[in-house]
Amino acid sequence: MSATVDLVIRDALLVTPEASRHGAVAVDDGRIVAIGRSEAMPSARRVIEAGGRPLIPGALDVHTHVREPGFSHKETWATATAAAAVGGVTTIFDMPNTDPPTANAAAVREKIAIAGPQAHVDFGVYGYVGEANLADLQPMAEAGASAFKLFLGSDNPLVPCPNDGAVLDALALIRETGLRCTVHAENTPILNWRGAQMKAAGRDDLAAHLAQHADIATVEAVQRIALFAEWTGCKIHIAHENCRHALPVIAAAKRRGVAITAETCPHYLLLSMDDAERAGGNALRVKPPVREAGHAEALWAALLDGTIDMISTDHAPHPVEEKHRASIWETSPGFPGVETSMRLMLTEVAAGRLTLQHYVRLACEAPARAFGLWPRKGALLVGTDADLVLLDLDHRETIRGATFQSKGKVTPFEGRETQGRAAMTFLRGTCVAQDGQVIAPPGTGRSLQPP
Ligand code: DOR
Ligand code: ZN
Repeated sequence: MSATVDLVIRDALLVTPEASRHGAVAVDDGRIVAIGRSEAMPSARRVIEAGGRPLIPGALDVHTHVREPGFSHKETWATATAAAAVGGVTTIFDMPNTDPPTANAAAVREKIAIAGPQAHVDFGVYGYVGEANLADLQPMAEAGASAFKLFLGSDNPLVPCPNDGAVLDALALIRETGLRCTVHAENTPILNWRGAQMKAAGRDDLAAHLAQHADIATVEAVQRIALFAEWTGCKIHIAHENCRHALPVIAAAKRRGVAITAETCPHYLLLSMDDAERAGGNALRVKPPVREAGHAEALWAALLDGTIDMISTDHAPHPVEEKHRASIWETSPGFPGVETSMRLMLTEVAAGRLTLQHYVRLACEAPARAFGLWPRKGALLVGTDADLVLLDLDHRETIRGATFQSKGKVTPFEGRETQGRAAMTFLRGTCVAQDGQVIAPPGTGRSLQPP
């Protein structure tokens, strides 16, 4: 350790999944170089007195849609990563449904080249899994993809759902890369059939969208992909788990030893169809849908018992006019999330629904472990990246989409009071955001890949 280090954060409550203890962290050259008593820290060019507030690892969000290339009117790498930084998220993974889709090595390299100069936080890039690009899977991994994304439920022509034969071949190939495959687990034929039925009946309301995405469509797809993962030995990750009937399927697969992890998102934990009016009516449209009351309770139980491993957001920004349309079928699905997730979950911590230590496991350690980045990311250990978030657990604020860094300004949490937020976000020792403002230049973030 050099005599004088870059940064010391003193008098903090250091929170990990295992423990909360008072102490300090010293940072040099982007890494944590010492953890211990405040008095034992080396001298530093910058000293921050935390005043006893909690210091946690930066959060990882393994499910975001950054939109570039192709849809920069919806979001850019600059705006998405600014949103992440103020939200306490120091690593995001970007989904491949861009234009062009991230479906070969050149597209992976192109996306990383677009992202790097704009990024305020570190990032990983997903490679798309389709029928036509099986030969591109290994080259995408070599070009820097962090993980793969399989859309089992898709009506997007840019990222169509492959047939089951191709899915099996793809999982066998992905297994060889060592990377994990994230799965949007819904049954496409059921979605297509029920969607056509709803349209034929003249239905164009939010409840019709829910009816299209029937529970059985996700239960079947989770069951099938868990079996395929077991058969091939590929590591999979269930995206945006939203349905109580799929939880026993995930739990059973885990008991059998399948390499399966799962995420859920704040909108599935905190909203139901009963909130539709308050959440903006059609603007609540998201795929998969926010379901009837009763699912959230089961998702919370699954989060607490380990069936669901982590929190993500499915950050999916769209312009305001695309979120307020009379027909549900014309309303773009999804909304921004990376900026509000930590605030919403800390509010639940304040309400006693989970402990802060448990939140750190769900938001930091579990995603880093599942995607091969732990302990470099998601940990408070000597030698790891100094991605740190100093929390203010008393900060109260009302969510207002108009104030977002994201270009997506429509949120189903509009008007909701939150308690707690990221006061300072550090990326490899650099303070990238403070009190809701981005303070580091674009280009601070870097592309990541598991070792
Ligand atoms: O609601 C959604 N929005 N679900 C998806 O699967 C895609 C996403 C998007 O890209 O807008
Ligand atoms: Zn998504």
